[in-house]
Amino acid sequence: MNTDKKLSILFVCLGNICRSPLAEAILHHRLDEKGLTDEIWVDSAGTGDWHVGSVADPRSISIAEDNNILLRGKARCVNYKDFHSFDYILAMDRQNLADLKHLQEQHGGKAKVRLFREFDTSAELPMDVPDPYYGGTEGFQDIFIIMDRTCQTIVNRLIEDKGL
Ligand code: 4NP
Repeated sequence: MNTDKKLSILFVCLGNICRSPLAEAILHHRLDEKGLTDEIWVDSAGTGDWHVGSVADPRSISIAEDNNILLRGKARCVNYKDFHSFDYILAMDRQNLADLKHLQEQHGGKAKVRLFREFDTSAELPMDVPDPYYGGTEGFQDIFIIMDRTCQTIVNRLIEDKGL
């Protein structure tokens, strides 16, 4: 992790192959457009370890490519150090949030653990990014729209220097 950055954000889902790596790639892309990549450290992880070391799901890579976004990296599991090193840990759904809060109760750490869609201006309840793993490609199109909209709000808040 690069500690020269002003702020660090970790996105977390279950497997770290569908939602959170796509959110990471989108935020990178949107930060890059605004010349902010040197300021913010972005990473992703999963609460489960089944896919550790795997590349992202081809459907996430494909929807990213369709939008001229490069998605690379390999899945990893969230670990106790993340709660000490990241400023924000943003969960893709309420189950991820509950699992993260439970881990933080055990291990402590300064990270602010929140739901990603708290930053979605169009979020409806429940504020989950739906898990697309067992569905078709439309699910990936749907989550792309949700995540891109949310990442743009995050970037705007950072530009306005309001913090998250
Ligand atoms: P993700 O999606 O949490 O968005 O990466 C999933 C990936 C794998 C599984 C479930 C969800 N799985 O059951 O293996």
